[in-house]
Amino acid sequence: MNFPTWPISTERELELLRQVVESEKWGGYHDFVARFENEFAAYQHCAHGVSAVNGTVTLEMALAAAGVGPGDEVIVPAITFISTATAVSRVGGTPVFVDIEPFTFNMDPGRAEAAIGPKTKALIVVHFGGPMANMDRFARLAAERNLILIEDSAHAHGSEWNGRRAGSIGLVGSFSFQNSKVMTAGEGGMLTTNDAELAERMRSIGNQGRRSGGGWFHHYTLGTNYRLTALQAAVLLAQLERLPEQIRLRMRNAAIIRETLADVPGLILQEIPKQAEVNAFYLLLGRIDAGKFGKTRDQFHKELLAREVPCAGFYPHPLYGNPLYQQGNCRVEPCPVSEACIQDAFWFPHRMLMGDEETTRSVAAAIAAVQAKTN
Ligand SMILES: Cc1ncc(COP(=O)(O)O)c(C=O)c1O
Repeated sequence: MNFPTWPISTERELELLRQVVESEKWGGYHDFVARFENEFAAYQHCAHGVSAVNGTVTLEMALAAAGVGPGDEVIVPAITFISTATAVSRVGGTPVFVDIEPFTFNMDPGRAEAAIGPKTKALIVVHFGGPMANMDRFARLAAERNLILIEDSAHAHGSEWNGRRAGSIGLVGSFSFQNSKVMTAGEGGMLTTNDAELAERMRSIGNQGRRSGGGWFHHYTLGTNYRLTALQAAVLLAQLERLPEQIRLRMRNAAIIRETLADVPGLILQEIPKQAEVNAFYLLLGRIDAGKFGKTRDQFHKELLAREVPCAGFYPHPLYGNPLYQQGNCRVEPCPVSEACIQDAFWFPHRMLMGDEETTRSVAAAIAAVQAKTN
């Protein structure tokens, strides 16, 4: 199949990297880091960007700076990458695992509300696969119940909810630039917020407890070194320039595939509400109803790999199924949808949505053919 490998780079990455390499310092708080923070935050409709080494520590920084700690519970979806929950544990809080909606793959706002208890301090929503979670419901819930709302936007660079970008609706957004993400420097992370004081606290945590404008050897709070290097910022500036066009391409190709597969019995692609149509398409997600499809998800997965379509299965368990959380230190709400998705859901990586139209049509046909073969 003729779609690109990932990551994609051009001369632009090399040009910007050269400028950093030829500058007098590569670390510290380089101009390129400041430039990338400003450009990325503005792109996400936020006033402040605070970069860090990855999208795991950014979540820890956000929670710590927002005052989440021992004794606090934080509601998280049961289906997401482990960092969403371990960030809570690592600041001393307790993750509360809540089910997702059957077809958006995002946390169910009704179940999140039902899980709120006297110790609940925050909610972390994840915009799973790219389309944003229902931010009308989550913003209202957070406001009504006086909870901190964090957007884990590791899948949602450029994604929108009703025209508002990921990371700009909750108190803070957290992004990852790890290798598989829609823009990458191999590793990297960013926090976005419109709250200047929170931004300053988050920056201080990742910059050895320093204050902006303060001396290099003046440390005010307990911090550590999570700084992004200028080399990463150079690559990310180039990646950000290309992102809007890449999102348009993925949206066009996703529309072709979704239209082609719309009538395949038993193949249900991710439900994308109108408000979330503009999205990064980090993943193309779906579920197999084996009764109607005629094959299980595992058979579907295996046959696609044989046809060189890069289908991934799904997570092997909801987060609470990991040995780490089998030992306790969490609260688990009923998660029937998450449990079902472990058996029947699948995803395709975003590079599959980055070929030309002809390639996209043949991918869609190859996916549809897995079902057609049974009849
Ligand atoms: C939803 C989610 N949150 C957080 C992360 C952590 O990002 P990083 O790998 O940059 O630490 C990831 C990475 O895969 C993720 O998918």
